[in-house]
Amino acid sequence: MTVDPVSHPAPAPVPELFTWEFAADPYPAYAWLREHAPVRRTRLPSGVEAWLVTRYADARQALADPRLSKNPAHHDEPAHAKGRTGIPGERSANLMTHLLNIDPPDHTRLRRLVSKAFTPRRVAEFAPRVQELTDGLIDRFAARGSADLIHEFAFPLPIYAICDLLGVPREDQDDFRDWAGMMIRHGGGPRGGVARSVKKMRGYLAELIHRKRAELPAEPAPGEDLISGLIRASDHGEHLTENEAAAMCFVLLFAGFETTVNLIGNGTYALLRHPEQRRLLQDSLAAGRTDLLETGVEELLRYDGPVELATWRFATEPLTIGGQRVETGDPVLVVLAAADRDPERFDAPDTLDLTRRDNQHLGYGHGIHYCLGAPLARLEGRSALATLLTRLPDLQLAVDSGDLRWRGGLIMRGLRTLPVTFTPVGDS
Ligand code: HEM
Repeated sequence: MTVDPVSHPAPAPVPELFTWEFAADPYPAYAWLREHAPVRRTRLPSGVEAWLVTRYADARQALADPRLSKNPAHHDEPAHAKGRTGIPGERSANLMTHLLNIDPPDHTRLRRLVSKAFTPRRVAEFAPRVQELTDGLIDRFAARGSADLIHEFAFPLPIYAICDLLGVPREDQDDFRDWAGMMIRHGGGPRGGVARSVKKMRGYLAELIHRKRAELPAEPAPGEDLISGLIRASDHGEHLTENEAAAMCFVLLFAGFETTVNLIGNGTYALLRHPEQRRLLQDSLAAGRTDLLETGVEELLRYDGPVELATWRFATEPLTIGGQRVETGDPVLVVLAAADRDPERFDAPDTLDLTRRDNQHLGYGHGIHYCLGAPLARLEGRSALATLLTRLPDLQLAVDSGDLRWRGGLIMRGLRTLPVTFTPVGDS
């Protein structure tokens, strides 16, 4: 019998995941998974096997499913593999009791307490400081006509911003920059240096929290820092313990750092690759409008978001996701980057359209673990992109796209460097 090649096309080969090519452009592989194996058991580079969920509808449902626990104790792997939640070095530093690792009722209690201190209002009041930081960083390279936007801009902005917000004294912030740099550079690599950095950060935070608690005034002063706000926050008479406050600061730093670096890096890169979209944004900013900036930052998150995979979840009972049975103890990874390009949910999902309005992307997650820092991330993303495009209007890539290298950690995806050139401005 002959096989008609038209009606029986050869099945597309299973794409290789977690290679360098994949890190540079994972989207064709995600399209394959969505179509052929939307919930697929996959061996990760660490050797752990997990279910990858790639369709939007399944992803959204899984993110909010209470049968999927965030507590690594539910993982069926041997004890040594537990705790791999994407936060390097956290086990060694005993920082397990943070929001991304716990379920209700503990999660509900901690989230309520932190939400009393980390309010949208506190973030809004912080806007002038973020603008000052953004301008200050651009001032350092504007006259040179070239820069590496990752190291000189995207990387320092979020760490200084979160340090300021927390109330880490300015003279200590460069230590944080170094510790965070170690974590971002070697997150998936040598554990020793990362563990040492996390340990130092934890020791420093514990001391700072202790000191701030001892010196806390009876009434909050205007512009009080977030650590003092966390110490002060109470819910039905309950406060955070010093340990919980340290773990909370750590998760805010960790969750708010590399994510925002990648939003600025991936976002700027996407704009440089789409000159017509970038022109639209520059024109609207020049006209004093912010609506396109707002929809645009959301679209950049959908199109090439910083968080490729949501953090780990573990099945607490047998369940089905997208028709696939998942057993108790199985790890589940929701692939946000794949879900946000699902043609079942988004029109022309592979097109960058800054005007897109029907854009309920999953870049900040969904459900009870929805990103607590989204208002701050939006503030930083908007300030960074608008200021870059306004002050350096002819910004362009200094190398071929193919020469750029991506950091493909498991959870996050972002550029290692982003060399650009532009007409020099000012003389500082
Ligand atoms: C949670 C994305 C910036 C703090 C999350 C989650 C995502 C996310 C996807 C949910 C993870 C899951 O369900 O497994 C992002 C992106 C950011 C960003 C794309 C930047 C563009 C920030 C910032 C902060 C922050 C600036 C704080 C300073 C948190 C915290 C959680 C979280 C504390 C845990 C919330 C919980 O478990 O209740 N983020 N994030 N994030 N994010 Fe963000």
